[in-house]
Amino acid sequence: MRAAMVSKFGGPEVFRLVETPDPVAGDGEVLIGVEVIDTLWVETAIRSGAAQEYFPMRPPYVPGSGIAGRVLQVGAGVPRGLLGRRVVAHTGGVGGYADRAVVAAEAVVVVPDSVDLAVAAALLHDAVTALALFDVTKVGRGDGVLVVGASGGLGLLCVQLARARAERVVAVARGAKLERVARLGPDKLIDSARPDWIAQARAVFGEHGADVVLDNVGGQLGEAAFMLTARGGRFSAHGSPSGRFASVDWQAADERGVSATGIEAAQLTARDRSAYLEQALREAAAGVIAPVIGQTFPLDQAGAAHAAIEGRAVFGKTLLTTGI
Ligand SMILES: NC(=O)c1ccc[n+]([C@@H]2O[C@H](COP(=O)([O-])OP(=O)(O)OC[C@H]3O[C@@H](n4cnc5c(N)ncnc54)[C@H](OP(=O)(O)O)[C@@H]3O)[C@@H](O)[C@H]2O)c1
Repeated sequence: MRAAMVSKFGGPEVFRLVETPDPVAGDGEVLIGVEVIDTLWVETAIRSGAAQEYFPMRPPYVPGSGIAGRVLQVGAGVPRGLLGRRVVAHTGGVGGYADRAVVAAEAVVVVPDSVDLAVAAALLHDAVTALALFDVTKVGRGDGVLVVGASGGLGLLCVQLARARAERVVAVARGAKLERVARLGPDKLIDSARPDWIAQARAVFGEHGADVVLDNVGGQLGEAAFMLTARGGRFSAHGSPSGRFASVDWQAADERGVSATGIEAAQLTARDRSAYLEQALREAAAGVIAPVIGQTFPLDQAGAAHAAIEGRAVFGKTLLTTGI
């Protein structure tokens, strides 16, 4: 099999394409012929060595926690009916940047015929997280929702879900990507590069503020967004591409009755992940959500994919394909 391996901590150039013998499915496992691979911003942070405190990966390792493809082999105790099925699966954290991967059978979800494998791979993390965050922040019909960092894979799905479930959604993005976010039809689009972006958001939500704020960016932008949260509202500080999570002013949150949650709200059990993934595939099949796949790179260009993500040159979801 071919795999894109991180040879040492460093820039995107540390990727090496390696050939190794195909793995074999053990008891309770399946071997997947991987066609499409999800990528995540956090994988670039891990590869750079900046996240060693939080993640156990040490080079050499093959990144990748989300894959879609066909089941090639089932181990003992796994229904043979899975053979040949189109599936999407969590790898458990590593090993996904490859054209073969062995995963636990319970991590595998069958993809409906009407859903493309690339779409399934794009939903694997982003839609699962978006659905979980919408439950945690209890987004309801009458709510005004503010999505900060709306141009990312997760942000765009938050905008779509908010359109389907809430009263109003305001999307915050920046620069040339604004026009593309506008195609998703948020009620208001705000350029975070403008000094008056907070005033613009206040003009939409009024003194009441936003019932729910979903912060995909963190840092100062997230902290400013926190101040836009309504009394009794919900603030999710799960994003950190700015370099850090928004630090919540707990006293202000207390005084205003704001329920604030952090990255822990997006850390799910395997069972919950699978349930949300099945829900995401159903919602995609029904046309409620449609992940925006902005760019796709071949597996041997995994470094270029990481460079694009780090260079903020991507829009929506970035996927890898193996060509098998
Ligand atoms: N995807 C998931 O399932 C998941 C799960 C848990 C937590 N999260 C976290 O949620 C955040 C967003 O995830 P994502 O998957 O949507 O990532 P993504 O697709 O890479 O999007 C990143 C977003 O952050 C913005 N951004 C990037 N670098 C920035 C910087 N230096 N300063 C300010 N904004 C910046 C981007 O906007 P520009 O157009 O301005 O670059 C984009 O809107 C990440 O912190 C991720 O770790 C994601």
